[in-house]
Amino acid sequence: GTAVDRALTAFRAGEPVCVHDFADREGETDLMYPASAVDEAAVAHMRNDAGGLICVAVTDPVADAFGLPFLADALDHPAVDDDPAYDDRSSFSLPVNHRETFTGITDADRALTITEVANAANAAAADPGAYSPEEFAASFRAPGHVHVLRGARSGLNDRVGHTELGLALAEAVDSAPAAVVCEMLDDETGDALAPEDAAAYAARHDIPYVEGAALVEALR
Ligand code: 5RP
Ligand code: ZN
Ligand code: CA
Ligand code: ZN
Repeated sequence: GTAVDRALTAFRAGEPVCVHDFADREGETDLMYPASAVDEAAVAHMRNDAGGLICVAVTDPVADAFGLPFLADALDHPAVDDDPAYDDRSSFSLPVNHRETFTGITDADRALTITEVANAANAAAADPGAYSPEEFAASFRAPGHVHVLRGARSGLNDRVGHTELGLALAEAVDSAPAAVVCEMLDDETGDALAPEDAAAYAARHDIPYVEGAALVEALR
C-alpha cells in the first residue's frame, strides 16, 4: 500500500509512525504514537531514538473541555511577537502530570500521564458539555512533564503542524482524540534529523515514514 495506508495501519495497531512535515515549515520528522497506546517502552523509544520533546496533542474541543489555553495567550508579552518563524502560531498549551505520578518524568510516569490524557480526551469528546476543567484538574496537575498541544479548531484546514497531522491520524483510525509526538534529532550534530536519515531509520525499524503533504492530501 501507500505510505499513508501503512501509517494508518500502524496507528490503528498502536504502533509508531515517522511524519516529516514540510521542507518549508519546520523540516522536522516526529516519531508519533496514538496516545492511548503509549506505554513505558514507547516513552523510552521516543526519548532514546527521537530525543525531542514528548508532547501530547489534543483537539481544540477537548482542550476547551480540559480548560487548557494556548500558552502564548496565557503569557503577556505585548511588545514582542512570540509567533514561531515557521508558522502563524505555536500549538503549545501547559505541561501536565497525572496526579498519580511522583516526579512525572520517568517512563512509567509519562506513560501514565499520556494514557490518562487519552482516556480523559475520550470522555471529553464523548460529551464536551459534561466534562469540566475541574474534572481535568482533579486528575492532572500543571506544571508537569508532558507538554499538551492544542490542535487548530479546523484541524488540517487551519494548520498543518505535527499537532494536526497526529490528530488527523488518530481520528482516521477512531483512536482517542490524542496523539503523542516527539521530534527526531541527530545524535551527531544536535540538529533536526535530516529527512533522508529519518526515512532510513524508519526503514531499518520497520516503521512507516510518511510526508505531511501525503497526509494532508489523504486526510483533509
Ligand atoms: C513541540 C514541537 C514539535 O514541532 C511538534 O511537532 C508540535 O509542533 P507543530 O504542530 O508546530 O509541528 O515544537 O515539541
Ligand atoms: Zn518543533
Ligand atoms: Ca539518541
Ligand atoms: Zn513539529
